[in-house]
Amino acid sequence: MVLKKGDYVVLFAEGKRHLIKIKEGYFHTHKDFIELTELEGKNYGEKIQGKRGCDFYILKPTIYDFLLKVERKTQILYPKDIGLILLKLEVGEGKRILECGCGSGALTCALAYFVGEKGKVFSYEREEAFIKLAQKNLSRLELQERVLFHHQEVRDSFEEEEVDGIFLDVKEPWELLPASHKALKGGHPLGILVPTTNQVSLVLRTMQELPFVDVEVWEILMRPYKINPERLRPEDLMIAHTGYLIFAKKVFSL
Ligand SMILES: C[S@@+](CC[C@H](N)C(=O)[O-])C[C@H]1O[C@@H](n2cnc3c(N)ncnc32)[C@H](O)[C@@H]1O
Repeated sequence: MVLKKGDYVVLFAEGKRHLIKIKEGYFHTHKDFIELTELEGKNYGEKIQGKRGCDFYILKPTIYDFLLKVERKTQILYPKDIGLILLKLEVGEGKRILECGCGSGALTCALAYFVGEKGKVFSYEREEAFIKLAQKNLSRLELQERVLFHHQEVRDSFEEEEVDGIFLDVKEPWELLPASHKALKGGHPLGILVPTTNQVSLVLRTMQELPFVDVEVWEILMRPYKINPERLRPEDLMIAHTGYLIFAKKVFSL
């Protein structure tokens, strides 16, 4: 692919990844800088030299790179949790997935990417400013068309029926369990993220009274390593806590 103005690239320089849009101007690291228009006409995988001699490798941005750089004004879902959510909800080509609590839209971007051109994401959010922010984040990936936003505070029901999967990232998800049950296809998955264990207990207690089975609770810990083959060891710091994931499947009766 020959790169042009407006394309995104990851510049890998001095051991770090930088997600950059090609436009007029400069990109600086601690030690060096390049003129961004020098990227035009290059291909992913090539390198260019900075004005002070450092190498800048041109990499293809992945959805992972975009998710790490989502503009955020709320807590967002992290790639480590999104990975399992995508598998558990079986998010793929043509699926209709509903989420409540779009926030900054990190999960919305991932869902929109994986449902493909024929799929749809239905996203509920009570704050208009967050819908605008999520739309801005989606537009960087050119995925706005795949998401239908509902600006509303959900209490009793969702508009859609027979959806393939639902994800709730709201403060009080136990209140939305009846609405989620109603909107889901039979046998299909519901996912929830909550940051505290007492919220998990409340969800579990409420779920026991509804036709949900195959209930699971997960916490995902991801520990990065320093990539020195002679002194291989974990990084000193890690993101120790994001939240607890709860998954369950809808049945018609218990
Ligand atoms: C933590 S944020 C979601 C973050 C999002 N999953 C992401 O990855 O960027 C939670 C959002 O849920 C919204 N919210 C909470 N309760 C809601 C409800 N009952 N109906 C609609 N939106 C709700 C809040 O306004 C907030 O923006």
